[in-house]
Amino acid sequence: MSESITIGVKPDVKAVTLCTDEQYQEMYAASVADPDTFWGEQAQRLDWIKPFTKVKNTDFGGDVSIKWFEDGTLNVCANCVDRHLPERANDVALIWEGDEPDQSQKVTYGELYEKVCKFSNVLKGMGVKKGDRVTIYMPMILEAVYAMLSCARTGAIHSVVFGGFSPDALAGRIEDCDSRFVITADEGLRGSKKVPLKKNVDEAISISGIVEKTLVIKHTGGDIDWAADRDIWYHEAVEDVSADCPPEEMNAEDPLFILYTSGSTGSPKGVLHTTGGYLVWTSMTHQYVFDYKPGEVFWCTADVGWVTGHSYVVYGPLANGATSLVFEGVPTYPDASRFWQVCEKHKVNIFYTAPTALRALMREGDSYVKAADLSSVRLLGSVGEPINPEAWLWYYNVVGQERCPIVDTWWQTETGGVMIAPLPGATPLKPGSATRPFFGVQLALFDNEGKKLEGAASGNLAVTDSWPGQMRTVYGDHARFQQTYFSTYKNTYFTGDGCRRDEDGYYWITGRVDDVINVSGHRMGTAEIESALVAHEAVSEAAVVGYPHDVKGQGIYAYVTPPVGVEPSEELRKELVQWVRHEIGPIATPDLIHFTPGLPKTRSGKIMRRILRKIAENEFSNLGDTSTLADPSIVDSLIEKRLNR
Ligand code: WT7
Repeated sequence: MSESITIGVKPDVKAVTLCTDEQYQEMYAASVADPDTFWGEQAQRLDWIKPFTKVKNTDFGGDVSIKWFEDGTLNVCANCVDRHLPERANDVALIWEGDEPDQSQKVTYGELYEKVCKFSNVLKGMGVKKGDRVTIYMPMILEAVYAMLSCARTGAIHSVVFGGFSPDALAGRIEDCDSRFVITADEGLRGSKKVPLKKNVDEAISISGIVEKTLVIKHTGGDIDWAADRDIWYHEAVEDVSADCPPEEMNAEDPLFILYTSGSTGSPKGVLHTTGGYLVWTSMTHQYVFDYKPGEVFWCTADVGWVTGHSYVVYGPLANGATSLVFEGVPTYPDASRFWQVCEKHKVNIFYTAPTALRALMREGDSYVKAADLSSVRLLGSVGEPINPEAWLWYYNVVGQERCPIVDTWWQTETGGVMIAPLPGATPLKPGSATRPFFGVQLALFDNEGKKLEGAASGNLAVTDSWPGQMRTVYGDHARFQQTYFSTYKNTYFTGDGCRRDEDGYYWITGRVDDVINVSGHRMGTAEIESALVAHEAVSEAAVVGYPHDVKGQGIYAYVTPPVGVEPSEELRKELVQWVRHEIGPIATPDLIHFTPGLPKTRSGKIMRRILRKIAENEFSNLGDTSTLADPSIVDSLIEKRLNR
């Protein structure tokens, strides 16, 4: 992307913003010069039960220890709901828009309070106690939000698992955090297709066996199996509970949730976020990055199964007393105008989505956007993957009608909330750049030899000091936390992303530098897909890499070696695609399966993934040094049979 396409926002857009460039510079300088004072003040945005006396106590060296506001106590649910009641009991907290356009519902803060108190009492009635892990496997319905907030209220730790994951993947996540409770619905709906959630839970439980109670929300009314000693209908249980449920007093460092995410090796990691720092971070970033003002309707299109849904559908907006829109459906159902129709219908002011959705909609043409009245929309956000210039400009020109700033927000499950993003009005935009660090975020670039780079440079992106929203550990495996994030560069958090910093100090994320791929904004470890493939009897070896994909950002390219005697065939290809969908879920569906009698390996047996990546990218003119390969001829045959041309 050429940096010369600098698009500044129009002056009238600037006038409505919270923060000028000078204020940003000043606040940023203060935030890094004296984090204790800065965050001590910023944390006053929350209601504390017992005020903290210590602010920051963090160490990126040794075993790594991260504590913020460590002697303070508070309750996240009380901050997201109860404390708004005096002023906002009649303001809308949540707007639900169902899969079908004629279904929607509004819930005020007053109603939310009652719903969440009752839901919390249902959880208590099931035996859920402070510190217990509760798995939430739900469609995008309001009960998913109630479930999360109720865990927070009662001190339970939620682990939301995206409804698109398979029973196997769900079972693995239930087991990893030893979760004896599951909350689900009979079925979900996505673009009129039914998702058999309860059936998947039943299957997962038959695999993992540790679940004692499942709470089931009746959503579609579809047929499901029932285990009377284990399954509880929510609508029945809620009938006899009281609407009074005082929030549990939690320490700032008590866990709030676990969210599983993929890394370059091994099984998904349980990213653990805690109470005080996470809520300070999500509420503050929600206000500043989205320039949120009271009364506005905020729509983040992410599913609560991902961190974006946690931080910007639920916790950030509700902590700020915002109106947050919860959308059950998909962008293309009933047709490609759905997003824009919903913006018009609910008078959305701030709209936050992923580049993959924009690319898919852009292909359908401008008429779907132009048919809707988007005059309420004043700010657009992007998240999850680099946004390509074409999509950026379409978003800016067609959706935003050249009057809405675009905030391209870079962050990760691990970071809890936005880390790099423009502050609307304060930051001149450059399409394709997430621009500058948020308050308190100290970035650094390193080369592959571990040397820190200064000024304009390209390298590996790291963060040199802690911020309140940072993950605290990998659930049940602190050594893995230290090893994954803090062993690459000394006393520094390594993000796994490559990045360029330009002359103006703007950051341009170039994508992962590890074996993680980003498919439609969903993060996946190639190792996970490989292990799913090799679990099939017709696969003796597999190597998975990403390749550029017009809509998905990256597609999944799998090199597969069948055992001797097994002939590759179209049937086998289809079977393997189904197999991976069944093992992990539809988001892991391989786009291309390349059968090969062998993989390029060094003499010590290490697969040369660099070569496989280049071939999958259809960029094989410069493969670098292949002289260390055990059998260099493999490369020619791979090139000859490559599938992405
Ligand atoms: C990875 C994190 C952030 C919440 C959703 C994804 C990529 C994320 C951007 C962006 C370029 C981005 C990075 C990052 N990524 N946002 N604005 N520009 N890349 O969270 O699943 O933990 O994935 O998504 O590669 O490391 P996640």
